[in-house]
Amino acid sequence: MENKVITIPKPNDYHIHLRDNELLGFTVPVCCKNYRKATVMPNLEKPVDNMSDLIEYRNRILNNVPLGMNFEPLMTLYITKNLTINTLIDAKNSGLVVGCKLYPANATTNSSYGISDINQINDILKTMEDLGLILLIHGEQLNDENDEYGEIDIIDREKEFIINTMPKLITKYPNLKIVLEHISSEFAVKYIENSSDNIAATITPHHLYYTINDIFTKTGKYLNCCPVIKGRNDRKALIRIATSGFPRVFIGTDSAPHTIQQKQENNNAGIFNTPESLLIYLEIFDKYDSIDNGNFEKFISTNGAKFYGLPINDEKLSFIKTNYQSPNQYNYNNFIIPSMLGDNTISWNYNNNNNNNNNNNNNNNE
Ligand code: NCD
Ligand code: ZN
Repeated sequence: MENKVITIPKPNDYHIHLRDNELLGFTVPVCCKNYRKATVMPNLEKPVDNMSDLIEYRNRILNNVPLGMNFEPLMTLYITKNLTINTLIDAKNSGLVVGCKLYPANATTNSSYGISDINQINDILKTMEDLGLILLIHGEQLNDENDEYGEIDIIDREKEFIINTMPKLITKYPNLKIVLEHISSEFAVKYIENSSDNIAATITPHHLYYTINDIFTKTGKYLNCCPVIKGRNDRKALIRIATSGFPRVFIGTDSAPHTIQQKQENNNAGIFNTPESLLIYLEIFDKYDSIDNGNFEKFISTNGAKFYGLPINDEKLSFIKTNYQSPNQYNYNNFIIPSMLGDNTISWNYNNNNNNNNNNNNNNNE
C-alpha cells in the first residue's frame, strides 16, 4: 500500500518567537519553509512598543528570508506603559501590524514590561477595539491579592486569569477581537466554546502532545514553558476542541528558542518546535481520525485566516505518512537549541515533492 499523502494550503503560524539579530538567521528560514505568514511576538529584550523599533525589527526579519521564498511577518506591538494611542493609529495605518500583545508583568520570558492591571490601559484597549487591532493575550494571573501566600499555583494561573480578567475585558470592550494564546487547560477550552465570535484561541503542538507526566522524563527536562503543560484531562479537552472543526481555535506554535545553556542554568520557559510543529499536529489529528474529515486543514490552514481576516494562502504544503526522526537538538553557530521531541520518532514527514521543503528541515541536525 502506498503511504498516505496529504496536501493543504501553506499555513500561517499565529504565534511565534523569532528572537533577534544572529538567531534570526536560524529561526526565519525554518519558519519560512513551513509557514507563509507568522504572528511575530514582540517580547524582545527591549520590548517592541513603538513603530520605529517595530519597522527595524521587521526589516531584520525580512533580511533573513531566503531568496525566492515568500514570507510575511504579521507584526505585533507589546503593551507596555510606553505604548501610545498615536502608535496604535500609525500601526493600523501602516498595514504591517495585526495586533498588540498583553503580557501580565513577569508571567513568562521577557515579560517584565507587561501590565498587571488592565485598568491601566483602558485607552489603549478602547482604541484597539475601534481600530480593529487584535488583542493577543498571554492569559496567566500570577498573584492573588487576597491570599497571604500571594503566588497562584502554576497550574491554576490560566484559569485565574480567565475568571478574573476576561469578564472585565468583554464587558468593557464587547467588540474587541481577542485571541487567548496557547490555551492549556480544560477550563480554557470550555471558556472558548462558550464565548462569543470575537474571541478565539491558539493551541500549541506541545500542549496537544505532552502531559505533565512527560516533564519528569528524560526528554522532559527541557519542556518548561508558559503556560505549563498540564494533565491528561486538560490535554483531552484541547485535542477535542482542536480536532472538532470548531472555528475559533487554530494553530499558534509558541515556538520559543532557548539554548541548552539557558535551559540548564535558568530553566527558561519556552519550547522550540518550528521544524516539527506541523508534523506533530498531523500525528495528533491522524490519531483522532481528523484528517480526512477536513478538520486538520481547518485548524491548520483556514480557521486562523478567517478570524484574522486574511486570505487562504495559494501555496501548498504536502506531507507523507512515513517516519520522521527528530534530532535531539539544533545547532546554529554557537547556539544549541533542544528540540521539542528529543531524539524520538513520529509517523509523519514532509513530502519530498514540496519544492521548498525537505526532510532536513534544518541545518546541522545532531
Ligand atoms: C515564551 C518565550 O520564551 O518568549 N515562553 C514560553 O514559555 N512560551 C514567552 C511566552 O509566550 O510565554
Ligand atoms: Zn509565546
